Amino acid sequence: MRTQVGIVGAGPAGLLLSHLLHLRGISSVVLEARSREYVERRVRAGVLEQGTVDTLVEAGVGERMLREGLPHHGIELRYGGARHRIPFEELVPGRAITVYGQQEVVKDLIAARLEAGGDIRFEVLDVALHDIDTDKPYLTFQGERLDCDVIAGCDGFHGVSRPSIPRDALTVYEREYPFAWLGILARVRPSTEELIYARNDRGFALHSMRSPTISRFYLQVPPDTREEDWPDERIWAELKARLETVPGFTLETGEIVEKGVTPMRSFVAEPMQYGRLFLAGDAAHIVPPTGAKGLNLAVADVRVLTEALARFFADGSADLLDRYSEHCLKRVWRAQHFSWWMTTLLHTFDSDDAYGRRLQLSYLDYVTSSKAAATTLAENYVGMPF
Ligand code: APR
Ligand code: PHB
Repeated sequence: MRTQVGIVGAGPAGLLLSHLLHLRGISSVVLEARSREYVERRVRAGVLEQGTVDTLVEAGVGERMLREGLPHHGIELRYGGARHRIPFEELVPGRAITVYGQQEVVKDLIAARLEAGGDIRFEVLDVALHDIDTDKPYLTFQGERLDCDVIAGCDGFHGVSRPSIPRDALTVYEREYPFAWLGILARVRPSTEELIYARNDRGFALHSMRSPTISRFYLQVPPDTREEDWPDERIWAELKARLETVPGFTLETGEIVEKGVTPMRSFVAEPMQYGRLFLAGDAAHIVPPTGAKGLNLAVADVRVLTEALARFFADGSADLLDRYSEHCLKRVWRAQHFSWWMTTLLHTFDSDDAYGRRLQLSYLDYVTSSKAAATTLAENYVGMPF
């Protein structure tokens, strides 16, 4: 078997790359360890930056997103017994976010690839990368061999691509946070029009949504939290304690249909290239979900990689490919900083650290009263221009 680009992983990065390459007449094969059902059901974040929305629409895969996604023109920061709106329409005119589940993006991309005759192999075990430091790299899996010109490692944080690069060729930057997020999906009308990021001495809480009838919530929890320790009643009681802190707000409750604990981590591996292997998305970098940047960064990487590969396959010129990592990392580090900053601003750290708590509240007051500070939040949240 032969293809131009061998893609490991059918998350948003791998699928969108395969689709964008197809639009440029470049062939690819996607190898995915999990089943189609699994990747289409996996619940992840759901905030799309303006640039992500534009990318999907331009690529012809935005039709259902435009129909079913929820455009939001602001978010609420809730703390100290009051609500504070960050108004995007005033601070970053013409730019907004769209609330649309990541697995919906994945479903749309899989459908588009399969309709165009794309080659996605699900439930493929034992993928291995070979000769990535030569111009004839190849992939093997279950006794088969796929020869490629280039390999794209889009297999997430726990994939095989990044570990295929010699250790001394990568520099890793990372930070772990002393908490995790317990995320739930509930069959209940959202109790808010816009997302609420709530800072509370009991811990952070986020009220998000998926549709007019499905809400999504997150609670800051200790890192070793097990789902079993959080029966539904405990989750609702804690969400109420952290969110019902302003006059006139009542949280509606309903059936919880999904529960999961997400560790909070910041991670970057540099460079995002080794020979003919290019890393994209979570395979190269992880952000804590507070800034909702994970999927958006994956999309940004893949846009850059598509341009570079189009040039390479058009005239053999590797100049854009050689600059791929440097180009992506500028945006990656902006998102790293923003995600760390939002996380630091909103979570409860050491409860004995009274000084840290006061700093946090002071910064929140600044962000919600100074137009300059609010604009910093808004322009990063809706996404810096490409
Ligand atoms: N072989 C084949 N596929 C693999 C392997 C492997 N050894 N290891 C992992 N995979 C697959 C995973 O099953 C997954 O479907 O690679 C895919 C990686 O997808 P994501 O984890 O969704 O990563 P990415 O496409 O970079 O998207 C980044 O996903 O983690 C979320 O919130 C994060 O929004 C961010 C986005
Ligand atoms: C979500 O809806 O899943 C979501 C929203 C905002 C975030 C993270 C996750 O910051």
